[in-house]
Amino acid sequence: MGLLENKIGVVTGAGQGIGRAIALSYAREGASVVVADFNEEMGTQTVALIQDNGGNATFVHGDVSVEESVQAMVEAAVQTYGRLDIACNSAAVSRGSGPIHEFERKVFDQTLEMCLTNTWLCMKYEIAAMLETGGGAIVNISSNSSLRGQAYNTAYAAAKGGVNILTKSSAAEYGAMGIRINAVSPGVIRTPGVEQYFAEQPKIAEGLKKAAVMNRLGEPEEIAEAVSFLSSDRASFITGQLLSVDGGGAIR
Ligand SMILES: NC(=O)c1ccc[n+]([C@@H]2O[C@H](COP(=O)([O-])OP(=O)(O)OC[C@H]3O[C@@H](n4cnc5c(N)ncnc54)[C@H](O)[C@@H]3O)[C@@H](O)[C@H]2O)c1
Repeated sequence: MGLLENKIGVVTGAGQGIGRAIALSYAREGASVVVADFNEEMGTQTVALIQDNGGNATFVHGDVSVEESVQAMVEAAVQTYGRLDIACNSAAVSRGSGPIHEFERKVFDQTLEMCLTNTWLCMKYEIAAMLETGGGAIVNISSNSSLRGQAYNTAYAAAKGGVNILTKSSAAEYGAMGIRINAVSPGVIRTPGVEQYFAEQPKIAEGLKKAAVMNRLGEPEEIAEAVSFLSSDRASFITGQLLSVDGGGAIR
């Protein structure tokens, strides 16, 4: 019996990287999964991977910083599978880096929208659906850059700091209504997004590669294991927490 047997879940940004690993883990643990991504090709690949392993999954195409896409994602879960029990909000895009005094306002706003506003928007609709059936569990994906701050990556770090306090505030708001809300803070994880960032920012990459005390990058599956646990009934008394999965990066 899997950790998430008979649960209905959504995972945003499930087309690749950490989000894909979470969708695969949800399905492996017995959940039916709505895979949401604005990359249709990669999202349908994730669904095919799940189905090839005997799991249930449906793809929803759209940008989760746009309200109609988020509504469609939650409706897909309810219409296809009957309800929504668990959700992981992993989709994010980091738009550039650089010193604040040279940073464009437009890029700052986009980063907040793609990392923080989208998480709030997803929670709004996920929570509404979960209230219909008396509860659920949500895991937001934060970042270790939100813990101590990160020079030249201030917009992203601030947005993820926002995700942390959004997680705690909403956990306080909905705990009595049966909805647990936690966050996982990845260290440096080997994903297509990070490989691209390393290529664009070689100076920052050097420091990031040495971030973990375990002296290696993490794998997306290592984040997914923590998310599946926090989404499951085994974590029934855990809410409002930020769990770093980072090979010890936060204690360095
Ligand atoms: N990889 C790391 O080292 C690391 C570290 C800390 C935090 N994180 C966080 O983990 C999460 C996943 O990161 P990753 O490295 O796997 O990223 P990635 O860039 O490899 O994959 C992100 C996926 O999300 C999708 N996506 C992004 N924004 C979207 C939107 N608005 N609507 C729909 N789909 C969208 C992309 O198409 C892509 O498939 C992000 O929240 C990221 O900030 C990653």
